[in-house]
Amino acid sequence: MKSWTSRKIRASKGKEKLPCLTAYDAITARLVDEAGIPLILVGDSLATTALGFETTISATKEMMLHHAAAVARVVKNALVVADMPFLTYHFGAQEVLRNAGLFLQKAGADAVKLEGGAGKAQTIELLVDNGIPVMAHIGVLPQSVRETGYHYRGSTVEDVKQLVQDAQAVAKAGAFAVVLECVSDDAAKKITEATPIPTIGIGSGVNCDGQVLVLADLLGLTQGPMPRFVKKFANVNEIAAKAIAQYRDEVMLGRYPTEAHTYGR
Ligand code: KIV
Repeated sequence: MKSWTSRKIRASKGKEKLPCLTAYDAITARLVDEAGIPLILVGDSLATTALGFETTISATKEMMLHHAAAVARVVKNALVVADMPFLTYHFGAQEVLRNAGLFLQKAGADAVKLEGGAGKAQTIELLVDNGIPVMAHIGVLPQSVRETGYHYRGSTVEDVKQLVQDAQAVAKAGAFAVVLECVSDDAAKKITEATPIPTIGIGSGVNCDGQVLVLADLLGLTQGPMPRFVKKFANVNEIAAKAIAQYRDEVMLGRYPTEAHTYGR
């Protein structure tokens, strides 16, 4: 049995902070799991971070299943949550259940995540009633950016009220945790206080029950302008660039491989 289950994540509310991270492959999933991170998200940020697309709308069910399976194969302790991609939980109960079921049955994930608040409560209830743990996601919804843009949420009293209602609706529907993406500090605090399940913030300040970051951002692997909430905890890009340049030079100068790297000598 894994150390982390969806029940344990839910029960951690008010007891301990939850550091969560994304991973899309076996190499990074193992690193994150071995660091003792309780929840690994195979996010559809896969599309923009690892596959070079402009938005997460390009992530397909096949892509997500492929990467979720790579992560699930090696993770021993963390809860593996797979994002349900764009338009895979919108067309009626049968299709929602079939698609979510694939993430558990075929990919080996422990739970799914889907975007939306009160409007997705019925879908969440359907999945939970059928044994599929769900993490909800409110605030900025990247799968809806074509409609809404990327503006942060919770800047007015009405919007804060709406967000609190959304969080309470997904909790009532049975979600074990809820991601708050780019929600104002004030709204995140109110949602966290008013909701019985852990809030996992990204760009939503320190008052959430947990935090989630895209691993490549934290490691300093992603390039270009970053959202203000990203903290680079390392500059792996620089280390990797140096190593690759050294390899290039040593091959060109005939210094690699040496005898130590050669068979039969
Ligand atoms: O796709 C993703 O990685 C996410 C997180 C940013 C919460 O949804």
